[in-house]
Amino acid sequence: MGFSVLVSACACVCVCVYVSAAPLGDEAENDRPIIGILTQEVDSEVMRKFGNTYIPSSYVKYIESAGARVVPIRLNQSFAEHEKLFKSINGLFLIGGAVNLETSDFARTAGFYFRLALKANDQGDYFPIWGTCLGFQLLTVLVAGENLLSKTTAENVTYPLNFSSEALSSRMFSSFPSELRRALSEEPLTANFHHYGVTKEAFMNNEKLTGLFSVISTNIAQNGAEFVSTIEGRKYPFYGVQWHPEVNRFQWNPHYSFPHSSNAVHVSSLLAQFFVNEGRRSTHRFSDAAEESAVLIYNCNPVYVEKISAYEQSYFF
Ligand SMILES: *[C@@H]1O[C@H](CO)[C@@H](O)[C@H](O)[C@H]1NC(C)=O
Ligand SMILES: *[C@@H]1O[C@H](CO)[C@@H](O)[C@H](O)[C@H]1NC(C)=O
Ligand SMILES: *[C@@H]1O[C@H](CO)[C@@H](O)[C@H](O)[C@H]1NC(C)=O
Repeated sequence: MGFSVLVSACACVCVCVYVSAAPLGDEAENDRPIIGILTQEVDSEVMRKFGNTYIPSSYVKYIESAGARVVPIRLNQSFAEHEKLFKSINGLFLIGGAVNLETSDFARTAGFYFRLALKANDQGDYFPIWGTCLGFQLLTVLVAGENLLSKTTAENVTYPLNFSSEALSSRMFSSFPSELRRALSEEPLTANFHHYGVTKEAFMNNEKLTGLFSVISTNIAQNGAEFVSTIEGRKYPFYGVQWHPEVNRFQWNPHYSFPHSSNAVHVSSLLAQFFVNEGRRSTHRFSDAAEESAVLIYNCNPVYVEKISAYEQSYFF
């Protein structure tokens, strides 16, 4: 009962009485970045009673922890509304989960933002995109124009990253102290929860993928397949990880292998900061403070879902 009250409060667009007096500023570096996290269709029956779409709180905390605010991007908006939102936010985050990579609203809406981001970046309008797990897979589908996924089961396992030769010059890990980079290549700091992925072979044989992305790391799945685990745009500020850096700091369910060592937490912090810093380079902004505060995730309350999911809390829309 209490839950549904929270959820309906969240589902409506709340009228916010707080109006920020702070100017939004024109300076080159945007120190008030706002990241859009795309909501995703709920795939679990027990969670659907709270809403049709969701964002696990771990992703929200991950972005907030690095000094950005979050706007949930609802799936049921018109393309005109999405286009307006695109011009107001400083980056797009695609979460993990379990929906169809071609036919879901999540995939179709991500594709709309992806095409806007390609065009914007081509015109010198910096706009970063990050994909985690399913979000990573979706980036490969959007770039390749086809689904290249195959069975690469790595379910509830932790791995060190097998860095490629291109990792040395990667932007994603450039701020990492060398000992942490070494730890990431030797200790099982990355959490994996996937059945499918893009094998190194499939990736390397696709010119669209190799043209747009550098492969930064690979891993060997439980079925022996070598899959691509980290990618970075060569020219575009697009990034993908098949693993889950947010769980290191924000998920604690003891039934899952979530790395919580200090090195694991450090990796998670630095990658979140890396992406939010990319967002600081975007000059997009809302036309006024009231419009901005009306859509921030602060208007919503997460629901406690520890008993029915791998997450502690989740936002529903
Ligand atoms: C989208 O869904 C929300 C919450 O259910 C609702 O308040 C809003 O009116 C819907 N928007 C559109 C364009 O259908
Ligand atoms: C790491 O990658 C190299 C080069 O692709 C490969 O030869 C090696 O087998 C990989 N090692 C593991 C543990 O995945
Ligand atoms: C996940 O892995 C951990 C550590 O190996 C294990 O204790 C746990 O039972 C596994 N959970 C599931 C759901 O398989």
